[in-house]
Amino acid sequence: MKTASAPELRAFMSVALRRQGVVGAIAPSSPALARALTAVVPRRGTPVVVELGPGTGPISEAIRERLAPGSRQLAVEIDPDLAAHLRRTKPWMETIQGDAADLGALLAGAGVERVDAVVSTLPWSLFPGERQERILGEVGRALAPWGAFTTVTYLHAVPLAGARALRRRLRSAFDEVLTTGPVWRNLPPGMAYVCRRPVTRV
Ligand SMILES: C[S@@+](CC[C@H](N)C(=O)[O-])C[C@H]1O[C@@H](n2cnc3c(N)ncnc32)[C@H](O)[C@@H]1O
Repeated sequence: MKTASAPELRAFMSVALRRQGVVGAIAPSSPALARALTAVVPRRGTPVVVELGPGTGPISEAIRERLAPGSRQLAVEIDPDLAAHLRRTKPWMETIQGDAADLGALLAGAGVERVDAVVSTLPWSLFPGERQERILGEVGRALAPWGAFTTVTYLHAVPLAGARALRRRLRSAFDEVLTTGPVWRNLPPGMAYVCRRPVTRV
Protein backbone atom coordinates (compact mmCIF):
# COMPACT_ATOMS: atom_id res chain seq x y z
CA MET A 1 0.00 0.00 0.00
CA LYS A 2 1.43 3.39 -0.93
CA THR A 3 0.63 7.03 -0.22
CA ALA A 4 -1.26 8.93 -2.93
CA SER A 5 0.77 9.64 -6.07
CA ALA A 6 1.03 13.18 -7.50
CA PRO A 7 -1.67 12.56 -10.18
CA GLU A 8 -3.98 11.04 -7.51
CA LEU A 9 -3.43 14.07 -5.25
CA ARG A 10 -4.12 16.43 -8.16
CA ALA A 11 -7.35 14.59 -9.02
CA PHE A 12 -8.46 14.63 -5.37
CA MET A 13 -7.61 18.28 -4.76
CA SER A 14 -9.25 19.46 -7.97
CA VAL A 15 -12.60 17.96 -6.91
CA ALA A 16 -12.14 18.65 -3.17
CA LEU A 17 -11.54 22.36 -3.75
CA ARG A 18 -14.53 22.75 -6.08
CA ARG A 19 -16.92 20.53 -4.13
CA GLN A 20 -15.94 20.63 -0.45
CA GLY A 21 -19.64 20.23 0.34
CA VAL A 22 -19.55 16.74 -1.21
CA VAL A 23 -16.01 15.53 -0.56
CA GLY A 24 -15.61 16.68 3.06
CA ALA A 25 -11.89 15.90 3.42
CA ILE A 26 -8.63 17.78 3.09
CA ALA A 27 -6.52 14.88 1.81
CA PRO A 28 -6.89 11.30 0.63
CA SER A 29 -6.79 8.62 3.36
CA SER A 30 -3.35 7.29 4.30
CA PRO A 31 -2.26 3.64 3.92
CA ALA A 32 -2.45 3.28 7.73
CA LEU A 33 -6.10 4.37 7.84
CA ALA A 34 -6.85 2.24 4.78
CA ARG A 35 -5.43 -0.81 6.61
CA ALA A 36 -7.63 -0.14 9.66
CA LEU A 37 -10.76 0.24 7.55
CA THR A 38 -10.19 -2.78 5.34
CA ALA A 39 -9.27 -5.36 7.99
CA VAL A 40 -12.87 -6.66 7.70
CA VAL A 41 -12.39 -7.60 4.03
CA PRO A 42 -12.12 -11.41 3.87
CA ARG A 43 -8.79 -12.64 2.54
CA ARG A 44 -10.22 -16.06 1.69
CA GLY A 45 -12.99 -17.18 -0.63
CA THR A 46 -14.57 -14.97 -3.25
CA PRO A 47 -16.41 -12.27 -1.31
CA VAL A 48 -18.35 -9.29 -2.62
CA VAL A 49 -16.98 -6.04 -1.17
CA VAL A 50 -18.53 -2.60 -1.63
CA GLU A 51 -16.85 0.73 -0.95
CA LEU A 52 -18.84 3.92 -0.39
CA GLY A 53 -17.17 7.22 -1.32
CA PRO A 54 -13.96 5.94 -2.96
CA GLY A 55 -12.71 9.38 -4.07
CA THR A 56 -9.46 8.78 -5.93
CA GLY A 57 -9.23 5.25 -4.53
CA PRO A 58 -6.71 4.90 -1.65
CA ILE A 59 -9.08 2.55 0.18
CA SER A 60 -9.91 0.75 -3.09
CA GLU A 61 -6.22 -0.19 -3.44
CA ALA A 62 -6.16 -1.57 0.10
CA ILE A 63 -9.31 -3.62 -0.53
CA ARG A 64 -7.83 -5.00 -3.73
CA GLU A 65 -4.66 -6.14 -1.95
CA ARG A 66 -6.75 -8.38 0.33
CA LEU A 67 -9.03 -9.93 -2.28
CA ALA A 68 -8.44 -13.29 -3.93
CA PRO A 69 -9.13 -13.73 -7.66
CA GLY A 70 -12.83 -14.28 -8.37
CA SER A 71 -13.96 -11.79 -5.71
CA ARG A 72 -16.08 -8.79 -6.67
CA GLN A 73 -15.04 -5.26 -5.75
CA LEU A 74 -17.60 -2.50 -6.29
CA ALA A 75 -17.39 1.19 -5.44
CA VAL A 76 -20.20 3.78 -5.28
CA GLU A 77 -19.02 7.35 -5.91
CA ILE A 78 -21.44 10.27 -6.28
CA ASP A 79 -19.09 12.67 -8.04
CA PRO A 80 -19.07 12.08 -11.83
CA ASP A 81 -15.49 13.32 -12.30
CA LEU A 82 -14.15 11.06 -9.56
CA ALA A 83 -16.16 8.12 -10.91
CA ALA A 84 -14.66 8.71 -14.38
CA HIS A 85 -11.17 8.97 -12.83
CA LEU A 86 -11.69 5.64 -11.04
CA ARG A 87 -12.94 3.89 -14.17
CA ARG A 88 -9.81 5.09 -15.98
CA THR A 89 -7.24 4.33 -13.28
CA LYS A 90 -8.77 1.27 -11.62
CA PRO A 91 -10.40 -0.76 -14.40
CA TRP A 92 -10.30 -3.86 -12.15
CA MET A 93 -12.97 -2.30 -9.90
CA GLU A 94 -16.70 -2.01 -10.72
CA THR A 95 -17.24 1.73 -10.27
CA ILE A 96 -20.86 2.84 -10.00
CA GLN A 97 -21.60 6.54 -10.23
CA GLY A 98 -24.43 7.04 -7.77
CA ASP A 99 -25.61 7.93 -4.30
CA ALA A 100 -24.89 5.60 -1.37
CA ALA A 101 -28.44 6.39 -0.22
CA ASP A 102 -29.63 4.29 -3.18
CA LEU A 103 -27.29 1.39 -2.42
CA GLY A 104 -29.90 -1.39 -2.65
CA ALA A 105 -31.09 -0.32 -6.10
CA LEU A 106 -27.52 0.23 -7.33
CA LEU A 107 -26.46 -3.24 -6.18
CA ALA A 108 -29.57 -4.83 -7.72
CA GLY A 109 -28.62 -3.13 -11.00
CA ALA A 110 -25.17 -4.72 -10.73
CA GLY A 111 -26.67 -8.17 -10.05
CA VAL A 112 -25.42 -8.27 -6.44
CA GLU A 113 -27.66 -9.98 -3.90
CA ARG A 114 -25.46 -10.18 -0.82
CA VAL A 115 -22.42 -8.26 0.32
CA ASP A 116 -19.70 -9.57 2.64
CA ALA A 117 -18.19 -6.22 3.61
CA VAL A 118 -18.97 -2.53 3.15
CA VAL A 119 -16.19 0.00 3.70
CA SER A 120 -17.13 3.67 3.88
CA THR A 121 -15.27 6.96 4.00
CA LEU A 122 -18.46 8.94 3.36
CA PRO A 123 -18.41 12.48 4.81
CA TRP A 124 -21.04 11.84 7.51
CA SER A 125 -20.76 15.33 8.98
CA LEU A 126 -22.14 16.77 5.72
CA PHE A 127 -25.29 14.64 5.86
CA PRO A 128 -28.43 15.46 7.85
CA GLY A 129 -29.50 12.78 10.34
CA GLU A 130 -32.24 11.37 8.11
CA ARG A 131 -29.78 10.81 5.28
CA GLN A 132 -27.33 9.09 7.61
CA GLU A 133 -30.11 6.77 8.80
CA ARG A 134 -31.19 6.01 5.25
CA ILE A 135 -27.65 5.09 4.20
CA LEU A 136 -27.10 2.93 7.30
CA GLY A 137 -30.41 1.16 6.59
CA GLU A 138 -29.35 0.49 2.99
CA VAL A 139 -26.01 -0.88 4.21
CA GLY A 140 -27.71 -3.12 6.78
CA ARG A 141 -30.08 -4.59 4.19
CA ALA A 142 -27.25 -5.18 1.71
CA LEU A 143 -24.98 -6.99 4.18
CA ALA A 144 -24.96 -10.74 4.64
CA PRO A 145 -25.67 -11.80 8.26
CA TRP A 146 -21.94 -12.51 8.74
CA GLY A 147 -20.92 -9.29 7.01
CA ALA A 148 -19.22 -6.24 8.47
CA PHE A 149 -19.35 -2.50 7.89
CA THR A 150 -16.53 -0.09 8.65
CA THR A 151 -16.43 3.66 8.54
CA VAL A 152 -14.11 6.42 9.66
CA THR A 153 -14.32 9.17 12.22
CA TYR A 154 -11.71 11.86 12.80
CA LEU A 155 -10.25 12.29 16.28
CA HIS A 156 -10.78 16.04 16.53
CA ALA A 157 -14.50 15.52 15.86
CA VAL A 158 -15.09 12.71 18.40
CA PRO A 159 -16.41 14.99 21.22
CA LEU A 160 -18.64 17.03 18.90
CA ALA A 161 -22.42 16.69 18.89
CA GLY A 162 -22.49 15.57 15.24
CA ALA A 163 -20.05 12.72 15.88
CA ARG A 164 -21.97 11.65 18.99
CA ALA A 165 -25.19 11.57 16.97
CA LEU A 166 -23.54 9.40 14.29
CA ARG A 167 -22.33 6.96 17.00
CA ARG A 168 -25.89 6.73 18.33
CA ARG A 169 -27.17 6.00 14.83
CA LEU A 170 -24.51 3.34 14.27
CA ARG A 171 -25.49 1.68 17.57
CA SER A 172 -29.16 1.73 16.54
CA ALA A 173 -28.35 0.23 13.15
CA PHE A 174 -25.90 -2.48 14.34
CA ASP A 175 -25.86 -4.89 17.26
CA GLU A 176 -22.09 -4.50 17.65
CA VAL A 177 -20.07 -1.31 17.12
CA LEU A 178 -16.36 -1.40 18.00
CA THR A 179 -13.75 1.30 17.55
CA THR A 180 -10.14 0.71 16.57
CA GLY A 181 -7.26 2.50 18.24
CA PRO A 182 -6.33 5.91 16.86
CA VAL A 183 -4.60 6.03 13.50
CA TRP A 184 -2.15 8.90 13.94
CA ARG A 185 -0.61 8.54 10.49
CA ASN A 186 -3.50 10.20 8.66
CA LEU A 187 -4.41 13.81 7.94
CA PRO A 188 -6.31 14.38 10.18
CA PRO A 189 -5.78 11.44 12.57
CA GLY A 190 -8.79 9.14 12.63
CA MET A 191 -10.12 5.81 13.79
CA ALA A 192 -12.44 3.19 12.39
CA TYR A 193 -15.84 2.02 13.58
CA VAL A 194 -16.31 -1.69 12.94
CA CYS A 195 -20.02 -2.66 12.88
CA ARG A 196 -21.58 -6.12 12.73
CA ARG A 197 -25.04 -7.74 12.84
CA PRO A 198 -27.30 -5.11 11.29
CA VAL A 199 -30.45 -4.56 13.31
CA THR A 200 -32.50 -4.08 10.11
CA ARG A 201 -32.18 -7.85 9.53
CA VAL A 202 -33.79 -8.87 12.82
C1 LIG B 1 -13.86 12.02 2.62
S1 LIG B 1 -13.85 11.66 0.87
C2 LIG B 1 -13.04 10.07 0.92
C3 LIG B 1 -12.28 9.76 -0.35
C4 LIG B 1 -11.39 8.49 -0.30
N1 LIG B 1 -12.17 7.29 -0.06
C5 LIG B 1 -10.34 8.60 0.77
O1 LIG B 1 -10.44 7.88 1.77
O2 LIG B 1 -9.42 9.40 0.59
C6 LIG B 1 -15.57 11.28 0.62
C7 LIG B 1 -15.95 10.74 -0.73
O3 LIG B 1 -17.34 10.38 -0.70
C8 LIG B 1 -17.98 10.83 -1.88
N2 LIG B 1 -19.42 10.98 -1.56
C9 LIG B 1 -20.01 11.98 -0.86
N3 LIG B 1 -21.32 11.74 -0.73
C10 LIG B 1 -21.58 10.55 -1.34
C11 LIG B 1 -22.74 9.76 -1.52
N4 LIG B 1 -23.93 10.15 -1.04
N5 LIG B 1 -22.64 8.59 -2.19
C12 LIG B 1 -21.44 8.18 -2.69
N6 LIG B 1 -20.30 8.89 -2.55
C13 LIG B 1 -20.36 10.05 -1.88
C14 LIG B 1 -17.25 12.13 -2.21
O4 LIG B 1 -17.43 12.52 -3.54
C15 LIG B 1 -15.80 11.73 -1.88
O5 LIG B 1 -15.19 11.10 -2.96
